[in-house]
Amino acid sequence: MAKTKTTFFCQNCGTQYPKWVGKCNACNEWNTIVEEVIQKEEKRNWQLSKPTKKASKALKIHEISTLEETRIPTNNNELNRVLGGGLVTGSVVLLGGEPGIGKSTLLLQIALLMQNKVLYVSGEESQSQIKLRAERLAGKNEDCLILTETKTQNIFKIVENQQPEVLVIDSIQTLYTDYIEASPGSISQIRETTAELIKFAKETNTPVVLIGHITKDGAIAGPKILEHMVDVVLQFEGDRNHSYRILRANKNRFGSTAELGIFEMQNSGLREVSNPSEILISEKDANLTGSAIAATLEGMRPLMIEVQALVSTAVYGTPQRSATGYNIKRLNMLLAVLEKRAGFRLGAKDVFLNIAGGLKVEDPAIDLAVVSAILSSNEDEAIAQDICFAAEVGLSGEIRAVNKVEQRILEAEKLGFKKIILSKYNKFPTKNYQIEIVKVGNMMDMVKALF
Ligand code: TYD
Ligand code: MG
Repeated sequence: MAKTKTTFFCQNCGTQYPKWVGKCNACNEWNTIVEEVIQKEEKRNWQLSKPTKKASKALKIHEISTLEETRIPTNNNELNRVLGGGLVTGSVVLLGGEPGIGKSTLLLQIALLMQNKVLYVSGEESQSQIKLRAERLAGKNEDCLILTETKTQNIFKIVENQQPEVLVIDSIQTLYTDYIEASPGSISQIRETTAELIKFAKETNTPVVLIGHITKDGAIAGPKILEHMVDVVLQFEGDRNHSYRILRANKNRFGSTAELGIFEMQNSGLREVSNPSEILISEKDANLTGSAIAATLEGMRPLMIEVQALVSTAVYGTPQRSATGYNIKRLNMLLAVLEKRAGFRLGAKDVFLNIAGGLKVEDPAIDLAVVSAILSSNEDEAIAQDICFAAEVGLSGEIRAVNKVEQRILEAEKLGFKKIILSKYNKFPTKNYQIEIVKVGNMMDMVKALF
């Protein structure tokens, strides 16, 4: 029996210390250093299948042969889009997200929809719990195996017997390996079990999908290097009170990180939302004031989003400003611009802003729709339903150009909008658009164009 060895790890960022300290020098957090027992044995369970390891040789770039990476399609268009076309063989994908957002549901659903042999390993739920969940979901993959196990050595034993084509682990924080004594979920266990799984993936060419919990500030729990080790980091997010879920790639070695997948949580699992604009615009009566539609882009995807504003006289001394799904500082800035550059007295008014559908929008092109919604509510005049907006608003009240404006115009046109209001500084090739394009340069132009 080897001597027990311990080290100190910061539970926030994973930095290792030889002795206990009160504050982590790397991430400046207090009281996050915890002693963990690490005890290594000499032999590893997942041995190199091919012991011959050739030394690599430097090559000129044109001498390197390129092989298209082989991808296993997941039968789910939204996930395929985010992954860049399917699961790359031998890749390791980490899926992070808040508890209850639907990570297990998503992966179980994918496992059931695939035509390949999938081993779904859960350390969180029993086989019968998973069966109950699977009964609600659509797919019926006969070759989907469910295993409840948390020890990597046992998992690898089953993997060797069953030879699955895809391995799913729910979640990396529940796994432990025998070679380390620290408890599951500790930094050293997470690092070690991930390293074993990555080695397994690379040597057998089996794609591995890991579920990772996230900490209170949204980072994937465990050492930061976890994200460097894996090939793809996906983030599953959404508002618990809304049914829409968004899947983003924070890192992707095999595709773009600008793509985005949208799902809707239903009783029968996650439904792919292939035309998100239609659902993000709420049904409403014609003449409601305080609502404007923005042509925004999420990643590469054009989205028409409804912005709702309510402006009312403040009852208390200090007016309230609140924003859901939009940056409150930016809202305050736009209010100041409206006051100073367009002469609207909003200083003594309460302003509430809401982005419909529970989305968070960071695209600056939504500014003009925000301003219009506020003005519409303030003036009590409805904006026609077939108008949409795509422009940024600057501090001096100028309406600024936005990127990829053609995509926005085309999406608006596709959805039947009659008019789009843009910045006059936006350059794009003039085509025969069905939609009327109105160009404005400053706040005053905009107000004239609107009412
Ligand atoms: P889950 O996948 O367990 O979340 P995570 O693994 O990220 O913690 O999701 C659980 C939530 O999803 C739960 O609140 C119920 C809801 N749900 C549905 O609405 N419909 C369904 O078909 C399923 C399986 C779950
Ligand atoms: Mg889960």
